[in-house]
Amino acid sequence: MSDRRRLLPLLGANRHGSRDSMTCLYRCGNACDHPVPNTSDNPYLGDIVNAEVSRRGVVRAGAVGALVLGVGGALAGAGVASAAPAGAAAPALPEVENFAARQRAGNGALTFRAVPPNKLDTFVVPNGYDHAVVIRWGDEVVPGAPDLDVHNQTGARQSKQFGYNNDFVGVLPLDRRGKRALLVVNHEYTNEDLMFPGFTSQDALTVEQVRAAMAAHGLSVVEIERVGDTGQWRPVARGARPYNRRITALATKFDMTGPAAGSAWLKTAADPKGRTVVGTLNNCAGGITPWGTVLSGEENFNQYFVGGDAVSADAKAKLARYGIDTAKRYPSGSRKWERADERFDLAKHPNEANRHGWIVEVDPFDPDGRPRKHTALGRFKHEGANVIVAKDGHVVAYMGDDERFDYLYKFVSDKKYLKGNSWHARRHNLTLLESGTLYVAKLDETSAGEIDGSGKLPSDGAFNGRGRWIKLVSGNRSYVDGMTAADVLTFTRLAGDKVGATKMDRPEDVEPSLATGKVYVALTNNTNRGVGSNPKADEANPRNANKHGHILELVEDRSDNTAETFAWSLPIVCGDPTDPSTYFAGYDKAKVSPISCPDNVAFDSTGNLWISTDGNALGSNDGLFAAPIEGPERGHLKQFLTVPLGAEACGPFITTDDRSVFVAVQHPGEISGATLENPASNWPDGDFAKPGVVVTWRLDGSHIGA
Ligand code: FEO
Ligand code: CA
Ligand code: CA
Repeated sequence: MSDRRRLLPLLGANRHGSRDSMTCLYRCGNACDHPVPNTSDNPYLGDIVNAEVSRRGVVRAGAVGALVLGVGGALAGAGVASAAPAGAAAPALPEVENFAARQRAGNGALTFRAVPPNKLDTFVVPNGYDHAVVIRWGDEVVPGAPDLDVHNQTGARQSKQFGYNNDFVGVLPLDRRGKRALLVVNHEYTNEDLMFPGFTSQDALTVEQVRAAMAAHGLSVVEIERVGDTGQWRPVARGARPYNRRITALATKFDMTGPAAGSAWLKTAADPKGRTVVGTLNNCAGGITPWGTVLSGEENFNQYFVGGDAVSADAKAKLARYGIDTAKRYPSGSRKWERADERFDLAKHPNEANRHGWIVEVDPFDPDGRPRKHTALGRFKHEGANVIVAKDGHVVAYMGDDERFDYLYKFVSDKKYLKGNSWHARRHNLTLLESGTLYVAKLDETSAGEIDGSGKLPSDGAFNGRGRWIKLVSGNRSYVDGMTAADVLTFTRLAGDKVGATKMDRPEDVEPSLATGKVYVALTNNTNRGVGSNPKADEANPRNANKHGHILELVEDRSDNTAETFAWSLPIVCGDPTDPSTYFAGYDKAKVSPISCPDNVAFDSTGNLWISTDGNALGSNDGLFAAPIEGPERGHLKQFLTVPLGAEACGPFITTDDRSVFVAVQHPGEISGATLENPASNWPDGDFAKPGVVVTWRLDGSHIGA
């Protein structure tokens, strides 16, 4: 029997790194208790050469599939944004220049005084700044939503309220004056211990409470307004608010697009065409596209499924590569959603898991439109996706697969971005992620012989090398031996294994700087690196038992984001600056803040790199940091804020005017043993802990940080 509650005391802190074991349980279904899903033996150059030779023979087979599947791809796109929304409160055409605007590379000096590490149960900002909660779990999203009543949580009530455990935050302007905007937020997961009074186990919840938890997942779209002329924002509290919307795991329908839509892998009893999926799961990070939509990554979707023991041997191998337990009917950490909806039981519906683990695109300006899951961007534990328009107009999405020893990906669109504010351009741009080429990264080294796992900088002065993007699939054409395009897109991890992709230390956010086109990857940690039979340190992941993580900078050749080759280096190797294995781009370590477990990255308008953390292994609360990444101040990392006890800092988002920094405080008070009645954090209201989005601004009204 699986009992999420009873498992808690059994979880050892060391095995789970720095995270509280309660976070491990709820966040990722105790992923660290399960074997590393990537058991492939792929890091050898010889294997890659062989794969390339055999790939030539696959091209013809893939081309046949293109004729069949291409029709579906066209159909899937046909219904998208076919017209301007109608009605009295018809949403306006978004000002797309707001989203495509280039950041400018400034001198980057950051003037705020660093916040010291602390364990306070409050939100701490630098002197001269203030902060306020914008919205918290249970607040009104759909006008007329009931107040949060923890004793009366239902799917219907929660479907109108702000969901639980906010993660990605995006702010999309609604007007040219900077007075109104849409706040778009992911709700990654729920913690039933902290949500339901008297919680004892998942089995003891009522089915209606399970439905409430399902509705607390997904996304929220909320209209917000500037407070006076400050950097503070608050929800619009009156009026029709036509954009306000909840997207949930419970009821929202999604259209599948791209080559795998309609494939046999996606068909179920409820959806025999394999084109319409109910719900989105474990939405972690994301990004805003240049055309003003939001991309959201379905991450630890594995933990929502049971019955993996009862599927075919072939299906078991595929499930296992995605971390789904195939030995037990109820794996440790089971959420028991099959009690409310049997599609979560793989014994009955073995393909349902294939319908999650995608990049989701939501158009917040089309509140009645159906969000889409784009199969062309592959299926893995998507942290998020961030898009840049390449010099030639193709759009490029960078993505990480957040699992120990998994891979880094990019997608290049077939079509080119259309500039300008017209419905014609908008309709076109909304199809850009439906067809293109998916690549996985292979990183080479310059100092391989010197990497001993200690983090000692090589004699050439850098952890660095070259790399290339290995083509996996282009449209309906597969480049992977023995796999069709639909196979590659649905079981992308297996494709990455076959072509010898580089095993990374948990790639989380991957985001291009719009100022320079350089790409930054947060590699959170990997305490299994070099442990037991797991792969040893390499130059791109240079520390064994990597507790604190690092940042990788990727510079595409010719500054062309569609290039198939690149240079890489590690500008920041995280930890306490007094630890000799840390590195801050050569900056004086006496002047930088300690940082551990980088997770989400963002940029301000002058191209400074902002980094939020998840699971600080140095004993402090998590927080948000900023560092110039160009010029003489490169590597001068300073802590900008800390979040309350037990919480992780998510988002973050800096508005294009640099006057407001949004952060999602995720899982406050998530410390083993805490309950709703006996909370480990009282943030933000003094009673029980509630996840919420916070805005920070500078009291003198000027630019944040600068
Ligand atoms: Fe949901 Fe990879 O953090
Ligand atoms: Ca080197
Ligand atoms: Ca994350």
